[in-house]
Amino acid sequence: MKMKMWSRNVRCLSTSVATNSKNNMGWWDHVQQAPKDPITSVTQAFLSDPTPFKLNLGVGAYRDDKGKPVTLECVRRATEKISDCEILESTKATTKSKFVQDCVKLACGNDSSVVREGRFAGVPALSGTGACRLFAEFQRRFYPDSQMFLPMPTWSNHHDIWRDSQVCTGTYRYYNPYSKGLRFQALVNDIKNAPDRSFFLFHPCAHNPTGVDPNYEQWKEISHIFKIKNHFPFFDMAYQGIASGDVERDATAIRIFLEDGHLLGCAQSFSKNMGLYEHRVGCVSIVSRDDKQATAIKSQLQRIVRAMYSSFPVHGPLLVSTILNDADLKALWEEEVKVMVDRLISMRVTLRQTLEELNSSSSWEHVTKQVGMFYFSGLSPEEVNQLQRDFHIYMTNDGRISMAGVTSSNVDYLANAIHEVTKE
Ligand SMILES: Cc1ncc(COP(=O)(O)O)c(C=O)c1O
Repeated sequence: MKMKMWSRNVRCLSTSVATNSKNNMGWWDHVQQAPKDPITSVTQAFLSDPTPFKLNLGVGAYRDDKGKPVTLECVRRATEKISDCEILESTKATTKSKFVQDCVKLACGNDSSVVREGRFAGVPALSGTGACRLFAEFQRRFYPDSQMFLPMPTWSNHHDIWRDSQVCTGTYRYYNPYSKGLRFQALVNDIKNAPDRSFFLFHPCAHNPTGVDPNYEQWKEISHIFKIKNHFPFFDMAYQGIASGDVERDATAIRIFLEDGHLLGCAQSFSKNMGLYEHRVGCVSIVSRDDKQATAIKSQLQRIVRAMYSSFPVHGPLLVSTILNDADLKALWEEEVKVMVDRLISMRVTLRQTLEELNSSSSWEHVTKQVGMFYFSGLSPEEVNQLQRDFHIYMTNDGRISMAGVTSSNVDYLANAIHEVTKE
């Protein structure tokens, strides 16, 4: 029987090869150019611009006031500290469980009952993107008919991640383009009107791209409605610390949901807050009912990882755990996060002041009201094009400006350019 199937397969193959050669058709002739990624294509356009003075405000990776990428001092010291560490199979297992616990503590709080009672399941992930991808895959396996509600707008890759995981996506209203702030009542209505037991993705802090976060009372209200509707919250936390400069404060939304007794999922990334972008360090975790449920969930997450990339690279998680478990290094990290955020805030202040001094008729209050890495300018695609064409300033088409690329020496130029393209 086996032999027969095998020979039939071989026959099929030779027929198709024959057909292909007859039609002069190669294996991959039907593969067409993929559409451009809205974020990475900005860098490509920037790099191919020969002008010496140009600004890349597309990338959401931190830069110092000289426009240079930064290696944090806490990372340097942790690198030294682990330089003699031999990475063996046995080290790997301990590193993994330690790292996941450290991440959960960072998100849920050091003395959280979730950690004390072992009510969490998690695995190291290939940064925030990988963490979202693993959760999406987990969602599809255990709730194949569910959908994920995403804020409108959101980080563009969220749509692609859930689509590629074959989970349908819906959207909920989030941002008000007129006030350039939160559309809270509409958000609440959308949460209420979604079918009971729906999945919702939230950015717990420094929402990308809008820089607009709900406040404490608003999170409380959202959590309350989630209780009534029995929805499941998934927090994609790519910027812990980058909104307020305080990593604890930036976890407020998650802490509120935990206090209210919710189960939840969380994606964490250390790309921005530790500058480990190229190391791809992240974690996906799920808060569960009890330790028994956590063990089952963890085994399923591990199963997904096994077939995707088998196991995780150890160096990044080891670095992160070293920082989080050494009181001095952790304090240094928290200071360095604050320095990064203070710089972003001071650039917002200067940008706003300069725009206001240019006597523009528009209000620029939102520049400093929004938080985090991005300023969602409200510039139209035409204005974005004009900035690129006439001023060599690059940003995503939706008018998102990475404040990380704004420095003392280019903020004036940026303000003047924005003024030029927005003046009546
Ligand atoms: C909301 C959000 N989630 C996830 C990510 C992915 O982060 P990472 O680079 O760590 O994969 C980003 C990065 O831009 C983001 O903005």
